[in-house]
Amino acid sequence: MFSRSLSPAKSYFSKSCILKEHRRNAQVSIIGAANGIGSNLALLLKRNNNITRLNLYDDSEEVLSIGSDLSELPGGPRVASYSGYSFLPASIRSSHLIVMVSRIPRKPGYTRDQMLAANAPAVHRLCQTMAEINPDAVLAISTNPINSILPFASSLLFKYCAYDSAKIFGITQIDTARAKAYAAKALNVNPRHLYVPVIGGHSDETTVPLFSNMTPSHYKLDSCQADTLTKLVKKSGMEVVRHKQGVDSSTLAMAWSINEFVENMVEALYGGATVVNTFTANPHFGTRFFSGPTKIGCYGIVESCGANFHMSEYERVILGKAISQLNKEVGLGEEYARMEA
Ligand code: LMR
Repeated sequence: MFSRSLSPAKSYFSKSCILKEHRRNAQVSIIGAANGIGSNLALLLKRNNNITRLNLYDDSEEVLSIGSDLSELPGGPRVASYSGYSFLPASIRSSHLIVMVSRIPRKPGYTRDQMLAANAPAVHRLCQTMAEINPDAVLAISTNPINSILPFASSLLFKYCAYDSAKIFGITQIDTARAKAYAAKALNVNPRHLYVPVIGGHSDETTVPLFSNMTPSHYKLDSCQADTLTKLVKKSGMEVVRHKQGVDSSTLAMAWSINEFVENMVEALYGGATVVNTFTANPHFGTRFFSGPTKIGCYGIVESCGANFHMSEYERVILGKAISQLNKEVGLGEEYARMEA
């Protein structure tokens, strides 16, 4: 049944550009704005002059102090903050982009199923509210486990007749940021000039950095370096959790990479075409959802990541394993949505 929903619920061509006709009016909501990722993301977005209004929502009242703190800063978007479930509709009503960073962070020994069970209720509430109040907005989610949460949210929006596969994104920009940082360090070059595509999903088993496709192409890593850096990218998230003694996961790097995603998305909504690393509906790899470099424009996805990379044998093997794991995790999210129905 769900495969039907892989094509956008509304015709691509009947849609009007989300923002193009109303230049300089991008409104963005952060859901989970009082946690470590959300508050740092809010600070970064306060510097973005392409955003006119930043709506901060959190279940916790702490969001109100974050809002008043940011409102002391001149320039950038106007900031409004909302606390408590009854204010969730108001916090997303007029937004073009809704960024969900709410989450119970990963912990040592925590399974993907436990993480899904912990984070699904907040995602469910948002999808239901969005379907009622603002079904045309773009939804971008960084809540883990992304490999299951995105299929879960997509199935729920489909159920509430508000699904558009071109407008729902799992934010996996962190993986390409990490790959770029580690490659730049290994090569002793400026990361600004490097790009490393990362495909698959967002978990130790499913994240597949393609160092063989790094650009500019004259930068090369030998197979031993590529193997070491691949393992490093896969393990990075858990390494930070260990350093924080299980209390939290990566917050600053997540905020930085989500900010990069939002900057690109807002640019795209204004009519520019850009590329982001994101987990979306994508049938090209034998899974229903897949992450990779994705072209976006003012309607959302313009072109999802295709299977046209020249990979090393090593990358081909880890991608094969990632795809079978990804299918299980996608299925888990869809099944979870069926159970909630
Ligand atoms: C990471 O890779 O560090 C993130 O997925 C962490 C998180 O819990 O958001």
